[in-house]
Amino acid sequence: MEIPRHLAVIMDGNGRWAEKRRLPRIAGHREGAKSVRRVVEECRRLGVGYVTLYAFSTENWGRPRSEVEALMRLLVQFLEQETPRMISNGIRFNAIGDLERLPDSARRAIDKARDRSADCRGMVLTLALSYGGRDEIVRAVRRIAAEIQERRLNPPDIDAALLGSRLDTGDLPDPDLLIRTSGEKRISNFLLWQLAYSEMVFSEVTWPEFGEAELRAAFEEFSRRQRRFGLTAAAPEESRSAAGRLS
Ligand code: IPE
Ligand code: IPE
Ligand code: MG
Repeated sequence: MEIPRHLAVIMDGNGRWAEKRRLPRIAGHREGAKSVRRVVEECRRLGVGYVTLYAFSTENWGRPRSEVEALMRLLVQFLEQETPRMISNGIRFNAIGDLERLPDSARRAIDKARDRSADCRGMVLTLALSYGGRDEIVRAVRRIAAEIQERRLNPPDIDAALLGSRLDTGDLPDPDLLIRTSGEKRISNFLLWQLAYSEMVFSEVTWPEFGEAELRAAFEEFSRRQRRFGLTAAAPEESRSAAGRLS
């Protein structure tokens, strides 16, 4: 079985999982947090280098206030509970998105988890919070514009590598595999730039039902894919890397 170096996941279906059981939606989010632990730890065992999880989108701010507040509380609780476990598993915690919009309690918890796990080298876990792919690109363009204004950069310096480096994911490789749960087949504003050549696997089960077996099945499917990056199947490695930023 081939293991992706970078796995990205759109964790979807918590609300439907709960509604089907006549539970409040937040019960689904709570159950979803257990899947996060299961999937992250299985990824670590299997040797995945980077896991990036879509936890809260820029559009999710438009949900009812009670749900947004409950999600923020759950985030703080999750980070407080899980950070020691992450550290003992060698997992470095990271977050991307417009974090300034998050409540202070969440920002503090994020900073703390990042600081405490900073020396871990086994795997990088990134949570996308208040994250939108378009918003991320807009913020990157603003950074670049400011650098030009300050004369630290000239317009001809701007290329795909430079823009990529100014994104929130500047220090992460592009995802090899994207998994979305709950049967929906869309990107929903996740990693628009970075998913250019990622393989995609859509799982029918909701996120709270997604566990080790479903993860392995997705990796098996990934192993059967032939990635071509716009080249021909027989292209030797050298021409692949000459064709652009592929790794
Ligand atoms: C995904 O589950 C988690 C978040 C978006 C925060 P949903 O809350 O979107 O669950 P469904 O899609 O309504 O079932
Ligand atoms: C995407 O799920 C966002 C997260 C998983 C955090 P949504 O449930 O918000 O997306 P749509 O509304 O189905 O596109
Ligand atoms: Mg959803």
